[in-house]
Amino acid sequence: MSYETLIVETRDGVSLIRLNRPEALNALNSQLLGELSGALDAAEVDEAVRCVVITGSERAFAAGADIKEMSTKTYAQMFAEDFFGASARRIEQFRKPIIAAVAGYALGGGCELAMLCDFIIAAETAKFGQPEINLGVTPGIGGTQRLTRFVGKSKAMEMILTGRMMDAAEAERAGLVSRVVPADQLIGEAMAAAAKIAGQSPLAVMMNKELVEAAYETTLATGVAMERRMFHSLFAFDDQKEGMAAFIEKRKPAFKGS
Ligand code: CAA
Repeated sequence: MSYETLIVETRDGVSLIRLNRPEALNALNSQLLGELSGALDAAEVDEAVRCVVITGSERAFAAGADIKEMSTKTYAQMFAEDFFGASARRIEQFRKPIIAAVAGYALGGGCELAMLCDFIIAAETAKFGQPEINLGVTPGIGGTQRLTRFVGKSKAMEMILTGRMMDAAEAERAGLVSRVVPADQLIGEAMAAAAKIAGQSPLAVMMNKELVEAAYETTLATGVAMERRMFHSLFAFDDQKEGMAAFIEKRKPAFKGS
């Protein structure tokens, strides 16, 4: 499949999706979001893809939703188009892991896109923010909800009400990103993490992802019960037998996804 706003390459079980609108600092317009949904549709059904990495350029992961495209829209259009709804749901419902590899600006919809991924690895140059207040609007792809869950009320409220950006070190301290790496190692580190995931049992990977997500959606008792059920259910698969036999036999497991 060919895309105009993305560069997609798949190797060693990992699909690397690079946002590619350099003239607009990768601002998310409907074409880019449509193509991203298409690339995820393709990755979802491709058995060779076990993990996805989404990245941008050195200067920007994405500087937000495309303000030029949005600026003249009416309420009726925004509502009828369910603006951002379908593309956000596509990412939320993606069952394989997605890593955001962020360098430069991740602002507005860019920060929200990174937070929709399963975890974020940041370059030292990364800058996160929800500057929608400067445009007279709120975030529109979950920023008020997800940033608050990641960094807590006080920091989220300050960032969202003032539009202040957070650098990579602050983002790591606040728990927004899993770790910070030198800019020239960002893709290598993200691809290495993705390759590690791609080598695991895909069934166990999907169940682990679902369970961590459930921690945000359910009570502790329900989440723990769900975990126990999934843990038990994995004993129905060859991959559990293989993983444990490989440990005992002191060899590398060869997971088959069955
Ligand atoms: N939409 C459309 N175009 C954008 C853009 C955006 N979000 N961000 C940057 N661009 C464009 C600029 O207009 C500029 O294009 P021209 O050369 O044609 O003028 C080009 O990208 C380069 O940008 P700058 O010249 O501004 O670069 P800079 O280095 O001086 O500043 C920046 C970088 C601080 C990121 C600045 O571009 C900026 O503030 N961008 C907007 C950030 C923003 O407000 N994001 C939130 C958008 S709303 C949203 O995302 C809603 C939501 O929740 C879904």
